[in-house]
Amino acid sequence: MKTLLTFCLGLLSAARSLPSAAARSTANGTRFSIDGLTKYYAGTNSYWIGFLTNDADVNTVLDNINKSGLKILRVWGFNDVNNNPSGVYFQRLSASGSTINTGANGLQRLDAVVKAAERVGVKLIINFVNFWDDYGGMKAYVTAFGGSKETWYTNAKAQEQYRKYIAAVIGRYAKSDAIFAWELANEPRCKGCNTDVIFKWASETSAYVRYLDPSHMITLGDEGFGVPGDSTYPYGTSEGVDFVKNLKIKDLDFGTFHLYPDSWGVPNSFGPGWIKAHADACKAAGKPCFFEEYGTPSNHCQNQVSWQKASRDRYTDGMGGDAFWQWGDRLSSGQSPNDGNTLYYGSADATCLITDHVRAINALS
Ligand SMILES: *[C@@H]1O[C@H](CO)[C@@H](O)[C@H](O)[C@H]1NC(C)=O
Ligand SMILES: *[C@@H]1O[C@H](CO)[C@@H](O)[C@H](O)[C@H]1NC(C)=O
Repeated sequence: MKTLLTFCLGLLSAARSLPSAAARSTANGTRFSIDGLTKYYAGTNSYWIGFLTNDADVNTVLDNINKSGLKILRVWGFNDVNNNPSGVYFQRLSASGSTINTGANGLQRLDAVVKAAERVGVKLIINFVNFWDDYGGMKAYVTAFGGSKETWYTNAKAQEQYRKYIAAVIGRYAKSDAIFAWELANEPRCKGCNTDVIFKWASETSAYVRYLDPSHMITLGDEGFGVPGDSTYPYGTSEGVDFVKNLKIKDLDFGTFHLYPDSWGVPNSFGPGWIKAHADACKAAGKPCFFEEYGTPSNHCQNQVSWQKASRDRYTDGMGGDAFWQWGDRLSSGQSPNDGNTLYYGSADATCLITDHVRAINALS
């Protein structure tokens, strides 16, 4: 067991290598530098792109994202199942032996996304697990290894397999210039827990990721709960997340936060204050904030233009960039998934929230 572990660690360090310095994505104070250019960056999200089975569709989406002037794409780097998988999946979790699927219906689908991103020069945020049950998530680990989503962070068997999965993904793309950042989880929460639980897990996991790949940025992927400024639910720490405390973690290079007033039971006018609260915290920590997901189920332009402006206005003062939720496009099978928040390429929504936003960013000095 010990011999095998030492052997595996040896292979991992032998595989480590640095992308060329000029092509790296880095933090530069509270801003991001990509390919040597420090500015405010706009991006988007696509949870589904790594699960497409048609390379032409993957290429169409990356071409359209690039043509739109968006530079960062956040994708799901996980797809966990427990048994009898059908279709695309990345990892099968079981107490009697888990497997990582590197086959044609496995991580080779994510390979296609990385390859297309490399071709067009778009940079990827790739995360390793979902807090939510979609595509398996922590629930799939709980099904295999017991406990609950609240004890997932400290469950030795779950964490051992999660780290194996992280090593498998990083091993494939550590040399790629298309990686913007590794992300520990999508929207990690630990309801009712002391905020030390996520703080400790994020500290240890980010140190492990840095050991595997010292040349790419690392971030948490949280919603940004736990920040001073207001007494409403998202500002509090009831979900076990303390944004300000987590910004202090050495191996986390930037902060993330999300914005869904509709799901959080606050008005849309909540947005600009929420953005300011995070920009203030990031400025104090000397790290960029990335406004990583935001959406409304309707009236997209009317509701979100003021959020984008509030974020851009802080471009030298805490905010490094943003990524709306989520990208929509026409695929060979028809329209990509529409969850109500989707902004489709070529639509009127895309004009005001992508074209106009990118133009306003380009006008910033
Ligand atoms: C950091 O940004 C400043 C301008 O704000 C620039 O002069 C400098 O070259 C940047 N450094 C890197 C490493 O990109
Ligand atoms: C990416 O977009 C830019 C700006 O529109 C364009 O000049 C470039 O040719 C595009 N790259 C590819 C590979 O299509």
